[in-house]
Amino acid sequence: MDSKKLHIIPHNHELKREDREKLHGHKGFVLWFTGLSGSGKSTIAGLLEKELYARGVSTYILDGDNIRTGLNSDLNFSEKSRTENIRRIGEVANLFLDAGVVVISAFISPFRTDREKVKNTVGAESYVEIFVDCPLEECEKRDVKGLYAKARAGEIENFTGINSPFEEPENPEIRIQTHIQKPEECVAEIIKVIQSRIKS
Ligand code: ADX
Repeated sequence: MDSKKLHIIPHNHELKREDREKLHGHKGFVLWFTGLSGSGKSTIAGLLEKELYARGVSTYILDGDNIRTGLNSDLNFSEKSRTENIRRIGEVANLFLDAGVVVISAFISPFRTDREKVKNTVGAESYVEIFVDCPLEECEKRDVKGLYAKARAGEIENFTGINSPFEEPENPEIRIQTHIQKPEECVAEIIKVIQSRIKS
C-alpha cells in the first residue's frame, strides 16, 4: 500500500542512528546468513553472537524458526509466504539497524531477489551476505530436526532442497563451509571481514 495515499507523514525524530551508534560504540550492521535447513546457520549465528558480545558489541539474532512462531506465524512455506517472510525480516532488520545494533539473521531466504531487496532496504554499506554452503546430502544426513525424512516421505510440501528451490548466492561476500570448516573457523572468518565495517 502507498503510505502517501493513506495520509501517513513520518515523524523526523531528533536523535538519529548516528547518535545511537555512538552510544553503542560501533555501527549498526546486518549479517545475513542464507543456506539450506540444517546447514548450520543458527549454530554459527549463536557462536558469532557470543564472540561479538564478548567484544562489547550489541547484537540481536533474528532466526527463522523463532520469528515464525510470533511475528510471522501467519506465514507458510509457499513462495509468496517466503517472500513476505523475508520482506518483513528486512524491515525488522532495518529497525534494529536504526537502533545501532548488529543484526544477525538466520533464514533460509532461498530467493535471490528477496535477499537483494533486503540489501536495498538496509543499504549495501550496512549489509553482508554469508552463504552457509553445505551440500544438501550433508544437511540431509544431519537431519537434526527429522524434517528431511518427513519431506522425503511426502509429509512436508515445498521443502527447500527437496521440492522447493534454493537459489545459491552468486557473489556472497562471505562463504563458509560447515561440512569442512570448524565452527570457530567460520566465526573467525566472519569477524575478520566485519571488524572494520562496524568500527565507529
Ligand atoms: S524461509 O525459506 O522463509 O527463509 P525460514 O528460515 O523462515 O525459511 O524457516 C525455515 C525453517 O522452517 C527450517 O529450518 C525448518 O526447521 C522449518 N521448515 C518447516 N517447513 C519447511 C519447509 N517446507 N521448507 C523449509 N523449511 C521448513
